[in-house]
Amino acid sequence: MTGAIPTSGSVLVVGSLNTDLTVYVDRLPRPGETVCVARAVTSFGGKGANQAIQARRLGAAVTFVGAVGGDDRGDDYLRHMEAEGIELRVARIGDHETGLGFVHCTADGTVSATVVSGANARLSAAAVEAALARGPRPGLILTQNEIPAESVIAVGLKAREMKVTAVLNAAPYVSYGQELHGLFDFLIVNEEEALAYAGHEAAPQDISGWLRLAAQLRSIAPEVIVTLGAAGAVYVGGRGERAVPAFHVQAVDTTGAGDSFVGTLCAALVRGEDLDSALERATIAGALTTLGAGAQESMPGESQIFHPPST
Ligand code: RIB
Repeated sequence: MTGAIPTSGSVLVVGSLNTDLTVYVDRLPRPGETVCVARAVTSFGGKGANQAIQARRLGAAVTFVGAVGGDDRGDDYLRHMEAEGIELRVARIGDHETGLGFVHCTADGTVSATVVSGANARLSAAAVEAALARGPRPGLILTQNEIPAESVIAVGLKAREMKVTAVLNAAPYVSYGQELHGLFDFLIVNEEEALAYAGHEAAPQDISGWLRLAAQLRSIAPEVIVTLGAAGAVYVGGRGERAVPAFHVQAVDTTGAGDSFVGTLCAALVRGEDLDSALERATIAGALTTLGAGAQESMPGESQIFHPPST
């Protein structure tokens, strides 16, 4: 663990790629109920790829390590990532399908998802170690929990060996033992994940409560960020504690908002921004991502986040 914030360099993301099928519903179906909808959208998703795309759109040099199946969806996804300008170190797992995300989005933009891991579940720790041993040393390494737990641990160990700042977006929740503790510099989680990692059932009622809960999670990593949706985010770490105010918008589809937050934070840090402005930009990017359908289509670009027109 470096404990340092990078001031330059590239972002290396180790993570998942999914094809998302999003259905837009007025409300979630009840058990035993069938609901007919007017609209479904297929798009590129997966937390790893979403975060890589967001960082790249904001001007960071990005390398992506992951796995796709031997199917046409895998071919399409690799072409898409290349077209976005991302350097790929992606395994083809011939006897598996590329990951799938089934997303339900309700009228207020709230989403719930089920993921079929497919090839993502075959990204081994050995493959991760080999991929991280190649190429120049990145400024920051980022991963999430949509790949096997042993591969997440391998990312943390390798980053520590390379003395590179390591960021874990621990989403979705995975029950690790003590082995996770101290491997990553940053832990980023949403409300549900924060409660699960802290072992709490009830959500705090106010920002002070969330700050206390984030402080508890410092047993996992020294720098902790909890994203709170429409309530913004909290940070507790080596630079003290902060409540980051929300950027208010009328959400259409919140898919990928958390990924946009994480990708933006990492892009801002390798650009040499201090943590306060990185957090502020991440909050704005996450909010802008909720304004359109799907995860990646609505992610903002460099001109919106780093050079907004003066009013
Ligand atoms: O964070 C949003 C992502 O979660 C979706 O793109 C879906 O694929 C799931 O991985």
